Amino acid sequence: MPLTPVLTKRFGANQPWKIENYEALDGYNGLRKALTMSPDGIIAVVKDSTLRGRGGAGFPTGMKWQFIPQAKPGETAKPHYVVINADEGEPGTCRDLPLMMNDPHSMLEGIIIACYAVRARHAFVYIRGEAVHAIRRVTGAVREAYAKGYLGENVLGSGQAFDITVHAGAGAYICGEETALLDSLEGKRGQPRLKPPFPATNGLYDAPTVVNNVGTLASVPYIILGGAQWYKALGPEGSPGTSIYSLSGRIANPGQYEAPMGTTLRELLELAGGMSRGKELKFWTPGGSSTPMFTAEHLDVGLDFDAVVKAGSINGTSAVMVFDEGDCVVRATLKWIEFYEHESCGKCTPCREGNYWMAQILERIEHGHGTVEDIETLLDTAGNILGRAFCALGDGAASPVQSSIQYFRDEYLAHVEQHGCPFGTTRVLAGAH
Ligand SMILES: Cc1cc2nc3c(=O)[nH]c(=O)nc-3n(C[C@H](O)[C@H](O)[C@H](O)COP(=O)(O)O)c2cc1C
Ligand code: SF4
Repeated sequence: MPLTPVLTKRFGANQPWKIENYEALDGYNGLRKALTMSPDGIIAVVKDSTLRGRGGAGFPTGMKWQFIPQAKPGETAKPHYVVINADEGEPGTCRDLPLMMNDPHSMLEGIIIACYAVRARHAFVYIRGEAVHAIRRVTGAVREAYAKGYLGENVLGSGQAFDITVHAGAGAYICGEETALLDSLEGKRGQPRLKPPFPATNGLYDAPTVVNNVGTLASVPYIILGGAQWYKALGPEGSPGTSIYSLSGRIANPGQYEAPMGTTLRELLELAGGMSRGKELKFWTPGGSSTPMFTAEHLDVGLDFDAVVKAGSINGTSAVMVFDEGDCVVRATLKWIEFYEHESCGKCTPCREGNYWMAQILERIEHGHGTVEDIETLLDTAGNILGRAFCALGDGAASPVQSSIQYFRDEYLAHVEQHGCPFGTTRVLAGAH
């Protein structure tokens, strides 16, 4: 499977983040074409392309845009907003930041097209606060776009007006959840809202709002220029287009690899030079730590929205974290659960308490104080979070616990029986605490 640069096609070019260089490589031609179309015509093309959101859930983008209620003749419409989720907090995920650093104008062009399609004037880009470099880069690109007439009043003589505001978050994983993000953008503490109502009707400032991921919107100019059929043909049915797979862990050449949706880990490993230290693959995540882990059995699963679900996990953010036979699955799971414990917003009991307890139990097993009952308690706790938490952060936290025990129960038992980690330095004397 070859690399298929679409979103990354300008990454190797000379300073592709500068507007002149972007324009020299087809930049803003998608917007020019879009402004000759009707807003509903654009929504129809995006729907026909079957583009699915890259933020994790894979929701069809055209359908989301169509949900924005439009005023009937004689009615005064509420303002509509487009909000870009550039929080990128899922462990292992690194594709929105490289996209914003290398090619911020492709995202801005997609945002302006989306604003035109859903009849919004104002868009907000919510970028994770720690990513100061990306905040600077996108702010600079917005300034360039105003100077060149792609933003502001009467864009390209179309009579349309568009504005983009860049907003720095404060660095909380939960603020990537779309409704927590909206609360945070409004200046409140970032915690998820009860759904329904959904952002399409009651979003930012209670007005109809589209929330989309960076990669979703950056795909839009290519779809407008290349057409829905071209885009669909890039990936398998139901999961069109390409994905930027972020490969990390025991990989010879970790990094971002853009390939058609449905590429397998075996193919990605070939592209990335194989495993890094001559050991066999042991376990890996198809879409970040919130997605149930896979093993060497799953090397040939097509990494797209449907095939991954069929194989027992979730495509998530295409964040492929790879571990080899020298890595301890209990330790990896402990580190992930410490992350969820820290990032739980505390609004609901199953996630707030459950992650605290799972971290305690994993810590004790990894450090040689665990019991066989602890493994059952872990499963019981994860089972009481899954489906009972207020938002998907809780469900995501159950994934590594349940899947690691499903595939590697013997390794958990070995920690208990050997009073410590068979891979590391945490072994203690039997009975010691
Ligand atoms: C805990 C949590 C964190 C999330 N973090 C992100 C994120 O950093 N970026 C993102 O685009 N979506 C994130 N999402 C998904 C968003 O809620 C939402 O589905 C997405 O922004 C919609 O955009 P899309 O339709 O373009 O995928 C997160 C969801 C949850 C539950
Ligand atoms: S599952 Fe509950 S406690 Fe956890 S982040 Fe979501 S709302 Fe907050």
